[in-house]
Amino acid sequence: MTNAELFKKAVEMTAFSYAPFSHFRVGAALLAKDGTVFTGCNVENSSYGATICAERTAFVKAVSEGYKEFEKIAIVARAEEGALTEAWPCGICRQFMKEFCDDDFVIITGDSEETLKTYTLPQLLPEGFRL
Ligand code: THU
Repeated sequence: MTNAELFKKAVEMTAFSYAPFSHFRVGAALLAKDGTVFTGCNVENSSYGATICAERTAFVKAVSEGYKEFEKIAIVARAEEGALTEAWPCGICRQFMKEFCDDDFVIITGDSEETLKTYTLPQLLPEGFRL
């Protein structure tokens, strides 16, 4: 699956985002090494700290179905006025990725299929921690 195809699935997921507090609707699409795609969106909560990001939603869906090997993830957000915008994974999500992903895992974001940026996990989380 191409980066653009994965990005398109992330865009679709912004429609399911539950973001009544931030109005920042995030979608993610995670590609497992066998080609299966797991999608996610952010799910906010009145107790703000209970919010889960789109990336972790996708990872939890995958891991809870027995998947633990991943190739790449596409992430995108829709700002309040509806425009697509880049979404960089928060620190907790980067650490979450570190648990399951190798150094060649790729993170894709952008505001359109034509302007995608890609980084490896060590670029976004240098000297990451894992037991
Ligand atoms: N959020 C994500 O879902 N992923 C990111 O990459 C950045 C932040 C969510 C959490 C919260 O619902 C909203 O965006 C604003 O922080």
